[in-house]
Amino acid sequence: MAEFNLPYSEAADRNKDPILGVLAEHFADRKDVLEIGSGTAQHAVHFASRLPHLVWHCSDVSENLYSIEQRLSQSALPNLAGAIEFDIAGAWPIRQYSAVFTANSLHIMSWNNVERLFEGLPRLLHRDGKFIVYGPFNEHGRYTSESNRLFDLQLKQVHPERGLRAIEDVMALARCAGLGLLADRVMPANNRCLVWQSMR
Ligand SMILES: C[S@@+](CC[C@H](N)C(=O)[O-])C[C@H]1O[C@@H](n2cnc3c(N)ncnc32)[C@H](O)[C@@H]1O
Repeated sequence: MAEFNLPYSEAADRNKDPILGVLAEHFADRKDVLEIGSGTAQHAVHFASRLPHLVWHCSDVSENLYSIEQRLSQSALPNLAGAIEFDIAGAWPIRQYSAVFTANSLHIMSWNNVERLFEGLPRLLHRDGKFIVYGPFNEHGRYTSESNRLFDLQLKQVHPERGLRAIEDVMALARCAGLGLLADRVMPANNRCLVWQSMR
């Protein structure tokens, strides 16, 4: 049978340890995590191996599921659940999780889907559920770095609905979804990690 080359993201390799630091702190009391937009699943394997008290559930749009499953089975970690198909614009999982995590996805999905994500979060999270988002944001109507400005241009060239989001807009969606901000961590390479907990 032909060998399948797993997709690989250099960025995911670079940022996995800084993100792990935030997850280790804020997911210490969690049992299960749904990851939205798992991508290459490098994060999932790294986090599940370092945080064995968590059952990590990958999800993504259908075209990424095969490679995610390949990486998960290669890792053979007991706390990695099978990946599920989850497109924010499509059918949503019916179960709830004690935490939801997503990295580098809010600038890839359309703004409509970012809104849908926050609207739907209360259905995905247990009463005291936590939500962590990692990625680059704009703030005070400005790019936070020249590299983020160039990245935003590249994103919009690929698809006009992509682009860095204003952190204030995302915070407003979180408030409407009944989420209280626990932490806003500045991360390497002009990224942020935002941690919320459901107040409902
Ligand atoms: C830049 S990749 C990030 C992958 C991974 N989280 C990481 O940080 O390496 C963006 C991810 O968002 C996912 N995504 C984009 N639109 C989505 C949608 N509508 N619903 C769910 N996932 C989506 C993509 O399929 C992809 O896995």
